[in-house]
Amino acid sequence: MVKRSSKYLHGFSSEEQKRLHLQNDLLGPQIYEFIGLEGASRMLEIGCGTGAQMRYVMQCYPHIHITGIDLSAEQLAGASAYLEAEAAFNNRYALIKGQGNALPFDTASFDCALMVWVLEHVRHPEALLAEAHRVVAPGGWVYLTEVFNNSFEHFPKSAALEDFWNQMNAFQESLGGNGNIGIQLGAMCAKLNHTKLETRAKTLYFDAAVPQKRTEIWNYWISLAESASRQMISSGRISNSDWQKVRREMLQLRENPSSAFYYSFMQCRLQR
Ligand SMILES: C[S@@+](CC[C@H](N)C(=O)[O-])C[C@H]1O[C@@H](n2cnc3c(N)ncnc32)[C@H](O)[C@@H]1O
Repeated sequence: MVKRSSKYLHGFSSEEQKRLHLQNDLLGPQIYEFIGLEGASRMLEIGCGTGAQMRYVMQCYPHIHITGIDLSAEQLAGASAYLEAEAAFNNRYALIKGQGNALPFDTASFDCALMVWVLEHVRHPEALLAEAHRVVAPGGWVYLTEVFNNSFEHFPKSAALEDFWNQMNAFQESLGGNGNIGIQLGAMCAKLNHTKLETRAKTLYFDAAVPQKRTEIWNYWISLAESASRQMISSGRISNSDWQKVRREMLQLRENPSSAFYYSFMQCRLQR
């Protein structure tokens, strides 16, 4: 029998839960540049994981009630502990265990629906998207943020890192996911009824001009790769020594005063 955790690139460990929180501390401000929640009061997050987006939204938009749904009980337990710690969030959120492709909500129940780093992990992204679209009221918005892993570049080039990156994407694909789903968001959304549809690529480019930001992004990238490496090692895709080599080279890139990091993630917003 395949272990449940092996079906998800990043797994559900407590290290992974912490990583999702740190990830959003770094990327939250970049993600929400494109997501205008001033007019929303009932929000749904599909694939809420450990509550990183929910926390960010509740901090920035005190008027919003947010419902988070996720298929993983482990992730939801992490979200509950994370959000309960903040008294200001009392009565402002609900956490529900369920499938994004069969949402237990009436049509038009929310002002907006959010998915961040979720469609990359699912076999039938259109099914989740159709459900997100169904539960948003006319005039409301569906917001998507996704990976586009082919955009990753770094200088100076590390062959070990490049090889690892390609293997990680192939591994994700073997699990039914798609590490390049970001570039398809506009086309998938265009098939759904809408009054407005907008997409953008958000580039993260850090070099010698911004050394502190470059260090932060390399630290984040190392933790992201490490999270994927655990599943890749346990499924026999790579050895621990392969991973240690990649890790060493990423640490060298972090310390190299001439290094550069480049990645673009993709966003799409659809108004019903
Ligand atoms: C990378 S995490 C992202 C979590 C959160 N959105 C964030 O940005 O921190 C992806 C989450 O999607 C959930 N997920 C994957 N497929 C799902 C599905 N079909 N229905 C509901 N949740 C799903 C996983 O359990 C996981 O918690």
